[in-house]
Amino acid sequence: MIDNPHNGAPLVWLETYGCQMNIADSQLITGVLRRAGYDLAPRPEDADVVLLNTCAIREHAEERVLGRLGNLAQLKQARPGVKIGLLGCMAQHNRAALIAKAPWLDLVAGPDTYRRLPELLGHDGFDPAVDVRLNRAETYGDLAPAHADGVRAYVTAMRGCDKFCAFCVVPYVRGRERSVPPADILREVVELAAQGVKEIVLLGQTVNAYRCGATGFGALLRMVAAVNGIERIRFTSPHPADMTAEVIEAMAAEPKVQPHLHLPVQSGSERILAAMERGYTVGEYLELVARVRAAIPGVALSTDIIVGFHGEAESDFRATIDLIRGVGYDAAFTFKYSVRENTRAFRLGDSVSEADKTRRLEEVIALQESIARARNRALVGYEYPVLVEGPARRGGGQMTGKTPQFKTAFFPANDTVVPGATVAVRVASATSHSLLCTLI
Ligand code: SAH
Ligand code: SF4
Ligand code: F3S
Repeated sequence: MIDNPHNGAPLVWLETYGCQMNIADSQLITGVLRRAGYDLAPRPEDADVVLLNTCAIREHAEERVLGRLGNLAQLKQARPGVKIGLLGCMAQHNRAALIAKAPWLDLVAGPDTYRRLPELLGHDGFDPAVDVRLNRAETYGDLAPAHADGVRAYVTAMRGCDKFCAFCVVPYVRGRERSVPPADILREVVELAAQGVKEIVLLGQTVNAYRCGATGFGALLRMVAAVNGIERIRFTSPHPADMTAEVIEAMAAEPKVQPHLHLPVQSGSERILAAMERGYTVGEYLELVARVRAAIPGVALSTDIIVGFHGEAESDFRATIDLIRGVGYDAAFTFKYSVRENTRAFRLGDSVSEADKTRRLEEVIALQESIARARNRALVGYEYPVLVEGPARRGGGQMTGKTPQFKTAFFPANDTVVPGATVAVRVASATSHSLLCTLI
């Protein structure tokens, strides 16, 4: 155990960077550490252990963490007894560089080693405790995460990724694809329902590639939908190539599965998609969009776009603009291409200048804002059931929650508008990011 100045349990401060899967992993880590006798610290200054759960997806994500490590060096100098650890995707991606930069790190642990954290934290020595082995069997299915309070809970359905898109580090830092057994997922969902959770978000980097024995992702959706008390089901991120008829049918047939699909396209250029090794053509993607829209009336679509991938000419970028306009997404997450070591595209290079990337990104964002505003304004006058989450951060006595299409709604508070309730609202006005509603 750890030397600590408190009488009670040693205190941990855990910071999370990156995607939803890392947030879910931090809940898992919190569960593991609590069972080993740790408690959460109210501030980093009070902690006996400071852990950063990191992201390696783009250079910027890594820079943020490196900057934070710079601050923590001071903490370590002031209190040499505090243990500082780096977890997650960066631990896996760049451990040698990390340890060279921050030799005072006590712990470096990759995403498949969280079971061992109490043991690794118990290690005392001059060198850091390092475990970055990937383990293609590790699903943590038997371990209970410490879920955050709220009406929505995130449940890991699968880990890792086998797609190896040319630009992406995930398969290297998270390892091979593996699915959590359905019985483990259902046990967790039943417990969450008993605690009052109404909405489950199933997680995985290619969540619809889920397969455990005979159970595919469509069957998993139906199993989760059969749990009493759970009212809404969502999932992220599905991959277009795994969007089978079985999955579309389950979405269409099961009313608890909400009409929103995040379908990352990355580029609208046939040539660039091929270079990205995404595993679908523009034609196949558009055909999938048509099938989804035909099967699920009113479905909202969102996407991820990368601008400035190596070799992206102005004409390729125009093709992306045309695709965005043609599909008419409800929302899009947009990124400048960031070269990542170890990936297949690393040796290709980075042909698009920073200035061109910035200009293309700004154009995509402006276009998407105008599309989202028009799509949201077209909803004025319509009614939606909204699952109430709580008071709006903007205040003013407003409450907030999501429509089935995952649009953020704001509406007045009253006695029946309590978190976990579903209320009927009518859209009165809209911006590109939210719907201002009245109660019906
Ligand atoms: N598994 C998901 C995406 C996970 S990463 C999928 O395949 O859709 C989230 C997003 O980050 C990706 O969709 C992509 O748009 C972006 N991204 C990944 N690697 C990137 C890189 N090297 N540079 C810029 N953006 C990147
Ligand atoms: Fe990365 Fe592609 Fe896997 Fe998504 S599907 S995590 S983009 S390799
Ligand atoms: Fe980042 Fe790892 Fe997620 S690289 S995006 S935290 S899987």
